[in-house]
Amino acid sequence: MLADLDNPREEARAWSPSSWKNFPALQQPRYLDPAALEGALVELAELPPLVTSWEIVALQEQLADAALGRRFVLQAGDCAERISECSSQRITNKLKILLQMSLLLVQGAACPVIRIGRFAGQYAKPRSSDDEERNGVRLPSYRGDLINHPEFTPQARAADPQLLIAGYERAALTLNYIRALIKGGFADLHHPEYWDLDWAQSSPMAGQYHHRIASVKDSLRFMENILGIRAGDTDRIDFYTSHEALHLGYEQAQTRRVPRRAGWFNLATHFPWIGIRTSSPDGAHAEYMRGIDNPLAVKVGVPTKLDDLLRLIDVLNPHNRPGRLTLIHRFGVEHVDKALPKMIDAVRREGKIVLWVCDPMHGNTRTTSNGYKTRSFDDIESELRASFDIHHGCGSRLGGVHIELTGENVTECTGGARGLSDEDLSQAYETEVDPRLNYEQALEIAMMVASKLASIREEA
Ligand code: PEP
Ligand code: CO
Repeated sequence: MLADLDNPREEARAWSPSSWKNFPALQQPRYLDPAALEGALVELAELPPLVTSWEIVALQEQLADAALGRRFVLQAGDCAERISECSSQRITNKLKILLQMSLLLVQGAACPVIRIGRFAGQYAKPRSSDDEERNGVRLPSYRGDLINHPEFTPQARAADPQLLIAGYERAALTLNYIRALIKGGFADLHHPEYWDLDWAQSSPMAGQYHHRIASVKDSLRFMENILGIRAGDTDRIDFYTSHEALHLGYEQAQTRRVPRRAGWFNLATHFPWIGIRTSSPDGAHAEYMRGIDNPLAVKVGVPTKLDDLLRLIDVLNPHNRPGRLTLIHRFGVEHVDKALPKMIDAVRREGKIVLWVCDPMHGNTRTTSNGYKTRSFDDIESELRASFDIHHGCGSRLGGVHIELTGENVTECTGGARGLSDEDLSQAYETEVDPRLNYEQALEIAMMVASKLASIREEA
């Protein structure tokens, strides 16, 4: 058959790590010095990778299990990591909250949980506008620490190619520390008390959390006594990294072949995702992602057209391999009831196998009267509950949750056990981008999800 020369994807069937350049690339920064950008990308391409192809393949297999209902995914972390916040305390706090949540989910789901951080590379952000205007002055928008700085000055907002290197190095430091902690037994299931956060002792959630964890410890001891083995190869506990594959030059730089394995891998992360703003099936992001062998995710929601989504699924997963593609839906509590069943039906009608994950954060963002970007805990919880019920009602399965959170004691989302109000947000509002659940709110969500998973199990 002749190639359709009006369609660049036909023409460019021979994918390469740079073939995305033949397609419209949204959300890319403008660099004033292209030679400096090129220099930074060449340097990046020569640095050692952050992850390995065998870890990526292992994750792909686990996600395939999740797509078939045998595992549950917890994907969580900051909206955006900050270069200035790469400290031991912040990294351990983030790891602690993820471990605590995952243990609660294991208990509720009664199946293994795949832990995936939004970390070690989550530095680039899509923005609704290229520029920001304040008091008649127009400057480029802040696009995350991989690109520029948040301060509203021309110097800070200029895209700086050296930040690509700095972000990559911070990602390496973060991952190195996480690997060392896990190898050193930090994630030992026998000692969940290692993961307690100091300030959380006084949390209204503490009692319930410790009660549930004690029951996990008891079950573990019971199994070990019966089987006569010690459970948990703790240095082999799986922790995977993910980030939005937004800056395509950065992603391309670590896209490689590896010895003794076919295909191409993005070795800067295990699990890259396409954000909702760059998810066109005809765009550069789809082109880049279709050629790599990492498992992929795509954010979908109110702006997603079902025809486009079906085309995108064909582009990204032409062989319909389970675990290859995860759809992370983020409709918002107001829209999920109407829109999600239609999406589930459309995907199923075409016989596509996807793993469904709910992001209850990004469809529920609002701005308070005093100018804080926030999300209400009730909305987040309601969208999650509705998503579980809708999937269940449609004969589908919600296979994971995607949450923006921090291990710090911030006040960015309203509600939760302490009943934070709009007025309380100013107490500890840190984010430059999206509002995150704090430690307590994140635990509360995990307990709710665990209960929901347990009740679905009991019904089945
Ligand atoms: C995000 O995950 O931080 C994000 C920008 O999400 P979305 O693409 O769903 O808006
Ligand atoms: Co976000």
